[in-house]
Amino acid sequence: MIVTAGAGEALYVAITTLVREGERVLFQDPGFVSYEACTVLAGGRPEGVPLTPDLRLDVEACKEQMDGARVFVLNSPGNPTGTVESEETIRAIVEYGNDHGVTIISDESTNTSSMTKSITAPPVTVMTSSPSTPPARPTP
Ligand SMILES: Cc1ncc(COP(=O)(O)O)c(C=O)c1O
Repeated sequence: MIVTAGAGEALYVAITTLVREGERVLFQDPGFVSYEACTVLAGGRPEGVPLTPDLRLDVEACKEQMDGARVFVLNSPGNPTGTVESEETIRAIVEYGNDHGVTIISDESTNTSSMTKSITAPPVTVMTSSPSTPPARPTP
C-alpha cells in the first residue's frame, strides 16, 4: 500500500507508473478533469468512454473500447455525474480488464464509505480514496 497526500497524487503516481508512450487510458466522459492531464504527462493517449443518456457506463461498449487499452480509470461515485455504478457493472468491467490486460484504477475518492468498505476486489485494482474531512493538524 502507498499512502499519498490526496487522491490526485495517487492518480498521478498510478498512471505515470503504469502507462508508457502511446498507451491508451480510458475514463468516463463526462468525468473527472485530472485523468486526461495525468495521461498526457505519462505520454499516454487519453480516451473518453461516452456515458449513456442516464450517465451510466454501457458495459458492452466499454468492453469494445477496452481492447488494446492499458488502463481504465473507473470512478464511482462519478465526478461530476454523481452516478454510482452497480456492483454488476463494476465487476464485469474489472473481470474483463483482468482477462484482457487492462489495469483498472478504481477512483473511489468521492465514496465516503470507501475508507472502510471496498466495492472492488480483484488484484489489479488500484484504490484511491480520500477521507471526507482532512486529518487534524498537530498544534505547534
Ligand atoms: C473523482 C476525483 N478524483 C480525485 C480527486 C482529487 O482528490 P484530492 O483532492 O484528494 O487530491 C477528486 C477531487 O475532487 C475527485 O473528485
